Amino acid sequence: MNTPVTGFSKLSKSEKIDWIVSNYFTHKQAAKDLLMNYWNADAKLQQLHDEFIENTITNYYLPFGVAPNFLINGKLLTIPMAIEESSVVAAASKAAKFWLDRGGFKTQVIGTTKIGQVHFMFHGDTKKLETFFNHIKPQLLADTQAITANMNKRGGGILDISLRDKTTELSGYYQLHVSFETLNAMGANFINSCLEQFATTLKREALLYEGFSESEKQIQVIMSILSNYVPECLVRAEVSCPVTELTDGTHTNAEAFAKRFVQAVKIAEIEPYRAVTHNKGIMNGIDAVVLATGNDFRAVEAGIHAYAARNGAYSSLTHAEINDGIFRFWIEIPLALGTVGGLTGLHPLVTFALELLQKPSAKELMEIVAVAGLAQNFAALKSLTTTGIQEGHMKMHLMNILNQFQASDTEKNQIIAHFKNHVVTHRAVVEALENLRK
Ligand code: MEV
Repeated sequence: MNTPVTGFSKLSKSEKIDWIVSNYFTHKQAAKDLLMNYWNADAKLQQLHDEFIENTITNYYLPFGVAPNFLINGKLLTIPMAIEESSVVAAASKAAKFWLDRGGFKTQVIGTTKIGQVHFMFHGDTKKLETFFNHIKPQLLADTQAITANMNKRGGGILDISLRDKTTELSGYYQLHVSFETLNAMGANFINSCLEQFATTLKREALLYEGFSESEKQIQVIMSILSNYVPECLVRAEVSCPVTELTDGTHTNAEAFAKRFVQAVKIAEIEPYRAVTHNKGIMNGIDAVVLATGNDFRAVEAGIHAYAARNGAYSSLTHAEINDGIFRFWIEIPLALGTVGGLTGLHPLVTFALELLQKPSAKELMEIVAVAGLAQNFAALKSLTTTGIQEGHMKMHLMNILNQFQASDTEKNQIIAHFKNHVVTHRAVVEALENLRK
């Protein structure tokens, strides 16, 4: 039985590793060597990564790939993607190429407003609280001026503060509900700093307010935090073409394919079991670009899934229709992204990814990410409604199976050639490898 450790974060990196391997590993040197194998030879670069989080012991690699040929509003882009799932980048590239020949992707940012809240308890007269709020509103704004000055200069800042009465849902619960425009920054630090200042001002001014009784003066702030639900920070991406052009040569009947495709989307609109998987496929594209560009994919995931359930049932993020012989397929998603601040200027690969994308504004990045999600969904539905997903998926997974069995380069080449015209299954790959090794 191991004993708890105290002061772990104060230990040096080597001391931390020694403690870990001596407590949890049988092959101590092998475990240590493995961790050190993933250290960067460039000490400065390694230090940068060490300092991103606490208790870093090594780096965790993900493949960083690119999907070329994305035509977005007439601009041709190559999209960076950080992801481990074997078929995602290939699927994105295929979808990009397909739509490149059909006018590409059209996008539109619908809104960029973000939300933050000060959650507090007030047990008293709501009317008095409303009067108090209107009285201190200018003070709330004045007290955040040091924080907002730079953002204001660039055209952003606090858009509005309102008082929200939530007492019918929870006794005594009110909010300062605040909307923000954070321009090219994701804005989490900016928003949270403003909110914490609002909380301080709220408590201070309540104590001084003569309209309150002694007990009403004791406003209890529970917490101040931005919301990752951003339904007004919304982007739309779309593709369309005549139904007759919805073929890549493999589907003889474009119209039948279009109809099946639209049915598949309709199923995801009304059936939550399917909607979750449908949207997961969309997130394959979205997360990969969000991660490559140094944005917070957990925030994006949480916000998007909440949006997918906004009407009371979890539903598809994409929609499709056939109207007057035209096939249209679109996505609408909330995305709070930044192209300045955070990791953007810090992580060299993030800087690279943003330069590859031609240094987009946050709005442009919203559009690119939405396109990546739409493209991924198009590729998935195209496979699902025609050949099935496993054909392409297993072809891409073949290399993982070969690596699992430590296939040599020669073996890999021979097996890949063999499976060019054979169905890939785990069993079939193992058998082919065994035959080769006989
Ligand atoms: C796999 O990562 C994603 C899919 O399951 C998405 C879908 O079913 O639409 C293929």
